[in-house]
Amino acid sequence: MAGLADVLEALQRTIEDGELHRRQHLEAEMGSQFGRHVEIGLALREAFEQPELRDKFIRRLKPLRRLIIGNLPAGVQRQGLLPELSPQQRTAMGHRRLDDIPDSELEQWLIDDGRMIYGEFKPHELHHYFTAIAPYVKPGSAMIDLGSGLGKVVLSAALSLPFGSCTGVELLPYRHAMAQQRFDAMLAAGDAALAALPGPPTPDEVVALPYGGHADASHVLRLKERVRFINGDLFDADVSQAGLIFMYCTCFAPLMDRIGEKLARELPQGCLVSTTTFQLRHPAFQEVAHFPSGTVAWTSVYLYVRAGELEGLPPAPASYLYEPPEEQWEAAVREQMAALDAGA
Ligand SMILES: C[S@@+](CC[C@H](N)C(=O)[O-])C[C@H]1O[C@@H](n2cnc3c(N)ncnc32)[C@H](O)[C@@H]1O
Repeated sequence: MAGLADVLEALQRTIEDGELHRRQHLEAEMGSQFGRHVEIGLALREAFEQPELRDKFIRRLKPLRRLIIGNLPAGVQRQGLLPELSPQQRTAMGHRRLDDIPDSELEQWLIDDGRMIYGEFKPHELHHYFTAIAPYVKPGSAMIDLGSGLGKVVLSAALSLPFGSCTGVELLPYRHAMAQQRFDAMLAAGDAALAALPGPPTPDEVVALPYGGHADASHVLRLKERVRFINGDLFDADVSQAGLIFMYCTCFAPLMDRIGEKLARELPQGCLVSTTTFQLRHPAFQEVAHFPSGTVAWTSVYLYVRAGELEGLPPAPASYLYEPPEEQWEAAVREQMAALDAGA
């Protein structure tokens, strides 16, 4: 007979991948949250595209190349998040040109540019990931995805693992809005599946979870209260009640030190933290498991537990950054400039 398991299955069917979603341009207005980012990005893109400005582009970015993910900043490329504005529009908006932008602003721009790159686990990777972490999850605990994108991990975790709550914190308003829309669609599918049952589920009904164990009816019936998406900066997120922090942080290299500091100070003892690509080197974390690249996912996955008092710990080793040799970096960028001219 149809029951809660069918509702859970209907909810699961609504989960969509997001890797190839249509990017929305950042707002261009100077007063808006991303106005300054757009201004600097467009000045850089102009210098990348205009042959007479290219030496300047190389000269300005070379000393900062450790902050660039790949060789060329994602935002400078056509598929990036910057809007198309003509030089006239930029002048009318009071935008500066590259010469008028100090290095400190370029540095921050590169950090922001990298962290807004989108990526997520493929379905089979998420399946491997949940299989790997399921034995560590405390039933009823709170999961938080810092940088939650379109919400796939939050929504999948809320259905598949015995978390009490799952929260996503996402910086970009359009990604947050897409996550919320996906959640609304999931709730609507759940309501339809519930309405199709021969009778309402009884409070003592349990549902088997895909990665082991069972949950009571509230797991499905209280989904609306168990999931939350917040449009905000992960550095402002309240993580004080968290049981597991998830981060797909492959593009967060320049932020990893600051993230480690925040989590060391603000997480409760025993909280789990999972990272991709980068280890959490802060001494307040002990490694619980390491899944090398090619096992759970294409990149390494690490699982840590917050343990020990902060006082008396040695300082965290700094820097997760990779700096390619100067000539190698310049040659790669000039190659991309040539490809642009060739219309590639
Ligand atoms: C690599 S994506 C991962 C998306 C999602 N966690 C997943 O695995 O499916 C990282 C996300 O973090 C967001 N992000 C970057 N910096 C952030 C910040 N300071 N606060 C909140 N979100 C941030 C980006 O906009 C992006 O959507």
